[in-house]
Amino acid sequence: MSLIIRIQCNNMNEEKLRPGVETLKSGGTVVFPTETVYGLGADATSDDACMKIFNAKGRPVDNPLIVHFSDISDLDKYTYWSHVAKRKELERLWPGPLTVIVKKKDLICDTASAGLPTVGVRIPDCNFSRELIRRCGSPVAAPSANVSGRPSATSIDHILEELGHRVDIMYSAESPRYGIESTVILPEGNKCTILRPGAYTEEDLLKIFDSVGYARVGEKVMSPGMKYRHYSPEKILFRASPDRILQEIAGKNDLLPIVSTELGEKINGKKLVLGSVKDPISISSNLYKCLRELDRSSHRGGIIEAFPEVGYFVSVMNRVKKASIELE
Ligand code: TXA
Ligand code: MG
Repeated sequence: MSLIIRIQCNNMNEEKLRPGVETLKSGGTVVFPTETVYGLGADATSDDACMKIFNAKGRPVDNPLIVHFSDISDLDKYTYWSHVAKRKELERLWPGPLTVIVKKKDLICDTASAGLPTVGVRIPDCNFSRELIRRCGSPVAAPSANVSGRPSATSIDHILEELGHRVDIMYSAESPRYGIESTVILPEGNKCTILRPGAYTEEDLLKIFDSVGYARVGEKVMSPGMKYRHYSPEKILFRASPDRILQEIAGKNDLLPIVSTELGEKINGKKLVLGSVKDPISISSNLYKCLRELDRSSHRGGIIEAFPEVGYFVSVMNRVKKASIELE
């Protein structure tokens, strides 16, 4: 079983940092918190260390890892960051839920980038985790800390269930603010392509780029992770509009509703409440927890509320759609 160390993102503690730093430096694996989801990290310059991540998760080896940095000033050493036209504007979004695809230098190992000439870089918004990366002396490759194909982990309990014996150290902190993964973008001059929607929205990016588009699945696999099954609970999950959900569950209790606070007020029976539609981040922060609770419930399956796809809800619905089937 791995060592679990309880921390707070804003509380630096020498004694608690030390075992994580030593583990990363000696090629081990460390689970650490971020503002999006928990990451499963290893030294991004070591093929052997990064291979441990793929083995622990059962991750296909052609799916590259995101590399986490502590400081913007380190990016040039490991990548061609200086070639990114809009780098100054993008730097202002860090620390934050943004991953930028950039040409890599040789120091980043090929296992981390899955053999690609590029790498996804991100500076996470958790002071403790950034300090851990800083002291490790190398950037830290880290996908979400879940078994491949399962919802990303937003609490240490989820990780214990799945990866407890396959990781060296786990840092447990307060729940991540967003609860869904970072926005992954490919910048090309004044244009940007969103490879994976996330907490930074199209509207945020339009303040920086002249044009912002989405990578279409099937057209060309730009982000290898997009072709794999993702974020799914084990039980069947349908999605439907609020009215359709009320109609479907009337008089029956085989499907567990996963709904907003507002819709939940109209449902008397058992339900899982995500959060208020007036506070989209509360909804995303509870999403994966609810998908895992569905699997633990006695219900045959679930039925989740479909939200109108505008602003931040585009990202929420991206995850909801990958986890569910539309109810006709
Ligand atoms: O919020 C997050 O991004 C979390 C936390 C831990 O930082 N990490 C995360 O990593 O979600 P992961 O590995 O679960 O998702 C990484 C996504 C995958 O879809 C992968 O294919 C894509 O980013 N990606 C990574 N490197 C890439 C590259 N060089 N080119 C295109 N896509 C890349
Ligand atoms: Mg993942």
